[in-house]
Amino acid sequence: MQVTVLADAEVVAEAVAERLLQERRGSDQRPLGLATGRTMVPVYAALRRRFDRLSRPEQQAIRQGWRSFNLDEYVGLGPSDPRSFAAFMAEQLQGPLGLALAQVQLPDGLAVDSQQEAGRYRAALKAAGGIGLQLLGLGSNGHVGFNEPPCGPEAPCRCLALSAATRAQNAAAFGGDAAAVPARAITLGLAEILAAERILLVVTGAAKASILRRALLEPACPEVPASSLQHHPRLEVLVDGEAAAALPPAR
Ligand code: GLP
Repeated sequence: MQVTVLADAEVVAEAVAERLLQERRGSDQRPLGLATGRTMVPVYAALRRRFDRLSRPEQQAIRQGWRSFNLDEYVGLGPSDPRSFAAFMAEQLQGPLGLALAQVQLPDGLAVDSQQEAGRYRAALKAAGGIGLQLLGLGSNGHVGFNEPPCGPEAPCRCLALSAATRAQNAAAFGGDAAAVPARAITLGLAEILAAERILLVVTGAAKASILRRALLEPACPEVPASSLQHHPRLEVLVDGEAAAALPPAR
């Protein structure tokens, strides 16, 4: 595992954006695994700025090769609902970069049968070759994607109930009302996440310092789903000084 501590969330976002662009310029044309959440807002802003500075041919090459699969979506929300992750991705990335909708895949939160949709999404990702680089944020309760604790490394893409902690954490997008946050979501499992060739975990802010320490330094356990990442052979962690506060200094 390689942990890089950068000054603040802005510097982290610039570094992540550069990695994502490099990835799309590279020869590995397996899909990117993308994440939503507040941590990713400055990341996608930095990505848009960097994309705008590229030449037309470079932009076109990136557009042509783009293929990404998002981690998760709320059950019951579709792209026309601004609180859906589909709407988040359309606003932050797909629209501004001029990508076709089909290039930025997410689970369909409006599918009639969510469990079946999870199976379809898993199969679509497999057919696309699996994830090359997986971008991840970290939930305050240690979840990645929406893999709520307890969750072991074999958990597949599925529909599951969100915890009270996660609904509270994400309430801001729902007018501050945790009860308005959908009760269920479809998420890639730890199985698909750990099958990615490389993983880039991005964590910023003081509120994540203690869970980050548990995820990286304590023995892996289902109560902290992100701790399964420790066993991944190519895990890179990019954090700001605040999130790194509980890590040993010399890391
Ligand atoms: C959300 C998402 C995760 C995200 C995490 C952290 O619920 N399902 O993919 O990484 O929680 O969110 P934030 O960046 O807003 O703290």
